Amino acid sequence: MKKVKVGIVGLGRLGKKHAENLAFRIPNAELAAVCSVVQEEVEQAQREWGIKNIYVNYDEMLQNKELDAIFIASPSGFHCEQIKKALDAGFHVFSEKPLGLYLEEAKEVEELVKKHEDKVFMLGFMRRYDKSYAYAKKKIQDGAIGKPVLIRCYGLDPAKAIEGFLKFAKTNYSGGLFLDMAIHDLDLARWYLESEAETLWAIGGSYEYSEFAELNDAETGAALVKFKNGTMGIFCAGRTCAHGYHIETEIIGTKGTLRVGTVPEKNLVTIFNEEGALKECVDGFLERFEQAYLSEVEEFINCIIENRKPNVRVEDGVKSTELAYACKKSFETKKLVILD
Ligand code: NAI
Repeated sequence: MKKVKVGIVGLGRLGKKHAENLAFRIPNAELAAVCSVVQEEVEQAQREWGIKNIYVNYDEMLQNKELDAIFIASPSGFHCEQIKKALDAGFHVFSEKPLGLYLEEAKEVEELVKKHEDKVFMLGFMRRYDKSYAYAKKKIQDGAIGKPVLIRCYGLDPAKAIEGFLKFAKTNYSGGLFLDMAIHDLDLARWYLESEAETLWAIGGSYEYSEFAELNDAETGAALVKFKNGTMGIFCAGRTCAHGYHIETEIIGTKGTLRVGTVPEKNLVTIFNEEGALKECVDGFLERFEQAYLSEVEEFINCIIENRKPNVRVEDGVKSTELAYACKKSFETKKLVILD
């Protein structure tokens, strides 16, 4: 079978993982080109992985007509522009989340995706491809907890990664706590509750690192959301989790409750010693969602080969950006936000 030839843009914390998956773990894909604004990153990919085509200019990569698909893992502020250029140049496109940092640009992309109906477009909401989250969805659909009425989500980055994160945040391309971090939970809420947000209130602050306040961002934040079908969401997000990377979701239904990741344990090992019974926790997103990152990319490649569309659609990108941006607005203005 002909392999899908992919060119990736962005070889940072996550881009490198996607690139490795495309190059070595997905038999139907070939990583044929890499692009980054950092020369050393693309040279390293060529040296270590034998990638044929390397670029420091995105537009030049799009001139390579050998490619079938473009994979976008650049900072969030570049996604919309790079998606538009790739679609207009005739490629299938995968983009990391968020779709955009502003509703207007996200809607422009939605229009363009509709115009290029024959192309596969997919957004990196990888949690939907995580085995536990997918299992939880199936259990809800099978009626295990009755009708879901409330979702409670924790999305906490490890304190250990704070220095790297502050560097990333200072680029001003992250979008802040709600668009960068809470957006995964906001998408999960829409997916599980099957509704869109109606009213919300978000708060936050900086308690350990003044840099967040200087960036007009929150180190720790929370949002309370009422959905159009009457269901509710409580969201906590933060950057200074002491014990590791804590991603936890609870869905309360009329006939039961379901939780995913209550203890973000590394594995099944418990260490019993003078400190007690110790369960180590996962270090970060690459460890916690290793399987999901691979599964979502497999799905993207299979959609291209089988000429079908993935479950995560451009509309999910638009709606989640709208919701996350509304949280940011509520946090910044200290006001309740009512969505259309
Ligand atoms: P990073 O800062 O580590 O890497 C960014 C990469 O893009 C670097 O290789 C940089 O040289 C390159 N780059 C920067 N500007 C560019 C431009 N104009 N054109 C081409 N390349 C450019 O960022 P990280 O953490 O890898 O995040 C990248 C994206 O992935 C972000 O949108 C972020 O929201 C998303 N992400 C998603 C996660 C998930 O769980 N789905 C987890 C982490 C990040």
